[in-house]
Parts: sequence; C-alpha cells; structure tokens
Amino acid sequence: MTAAHVVLRHYTHDDLGAIRQVLLDVHADAYADRMDEPFVQRFPWFVDHWGGKPGFSCVIGYDGDEPVGFTYGAPADPGREWWRGYLQPVPAETATFSLSELMVRPKWRKTGVSQRLHQTLVASRPETFAVLTVDTKRPKIQALYESWGYRKIGEQQPFPDSPLYAVMLRDLQAT
Ligand SMILES: CC(C)(COP(=O)(O)OP(=O)(O)OC[C@H]1O[C@@H](n2cnc3c(N)ncnc32)[C@H](O)[C@@H]1OP(=O)(O)O)[C@@H](O)C(=O)NCCC(=O)NCCS
Repeated sequence: MTAAHVVLRHYTHDDLGAIRQVLLDVHADAYADRMDEPFVQRFPWFVDHWGGKPGFSCVIGYDGDEPVGFTYGAPADPGREWWRGYLQPVPAETATFSLSELMVRPKWRKTGVSQRLHQTLVASRPETFAVLTVDTKRPKIQALYESWGYRKIGEQQPFPDSPLYAVMLRDLQAT
C-alpha cells in the first residue's frame, strides 16, 4: 500500500453537512479497537463542536472514492490557547491554530498519508503556532509529532473522562 495516489481535499465550516458522515465513518474504522470507551463514543459531539467554528479547516484524503483519513482544527480563541500557562514569557505573537484531530484508517497507515494530511492542513495557515494534544500513554505518536517539528510543553486533562494529554507546540513560521 502506498499513498502516492491518495488525493487530498480541503473543506471548511460550510462543508460540514456534506463531510460529517465521512468523518464519523473514518473515525469508526480508525478507532474500531476503542469504541467501548465513552470518550471515544463522544466523537460526534466533537465533530459538531469543531465543525461549528467559522474557522474550521479540514483535509480529507481519498483513495478513489474511499476516504482514508483526515485532519482538522480551527483557530484558537485568543487567551484560551492550549499553550497558555506553559509558555513563559507569553510570546509577542500569539495567533494559534488548534489541531484537534488526525486519524488514518488502519489499511493506509505507515504510507506517509498522515504526514501529507498534516502538512497540507498547516501549510496554508497564517497563525504563528500550531498546537495539539496527544495521549501521554501513546509515546510513539508523540515521537511522530516531534519528527514533524512539535515539542512537548506540558500536560493537561481537559475533561474528567479524557486521557492525560501532552500539549505539543510547533512554530508554523519557522523556516
Ligand atoms: C496517528 C496516526 C494518524 C499515525 O499514522 P501513521 O503516520 O501512518 O503512523 P503509525 O500508524 O505507524 O503510527 C506511528 C507509531 O505510533 C503507534 N501508534 C499509532 N496509533 C497508536 C495508538 N492509538 N496507541 C498506541 N500506539 C499507536 C504505531 O504503532 C506506530 O508505532 P510503530 O512504528 O512501532 O508501529 C494513526 O496511527 C492513527 O490514525 N491512529 C489512531 C488515531 C489516533 O490515535 N490519532 C492521534 C490522536 S493524537
């Protein structure tokens, strides 16, 4: 399996109605082994939450007609960026893109498509930073993000039933 022929398409808030079921279907396959977890079952709520943001930005990969994975996020609300409390002093430029989700269906993993999805989403962003969170129990995924230029700046648990996350930051404007 290679990803060279996977076509990446960009979507916005206005497309949510058209792509919502695609996101749910990819998630059901990508998280098939964890569907018994209440937090994982709440994914449709998160899709509506993030997709409801005016600045929602999403990239979906297609192998022919078949969706293989996606990533999405939105600009962070000023003052509520996930890095607040971890960066001292607070940087002069604070505009931040929150990368909320990245997932690839098992059949298309280890093909490079995850990196292409991520790079396509962040490449056009005007913000200074991208921030994401990753389950601290998944150090290999953290290492993957480090290889893409992120660094861990702290840990947080945003919901009582969510995992403990590593907060990871990337400078989007660094050359
Ligand atoms: C994260 C993801 C997009 C990366 O895809 P990829 O670039 O093709 O890379 P891989 O799937 O090979 O993952 C990289 C490493 O992390 C490990 N890994 C991936 N998902 C994992 C998980 N949920 N729990 C623990 N380890 C995981 C893989 O086993 C791999 O390690 P290995 O090289 O020793 O086999 C894909 O693994 C995925 O969709 N995972 C499920 C959803 C998810 O956890 N998303 C990230 C949320 S922060």
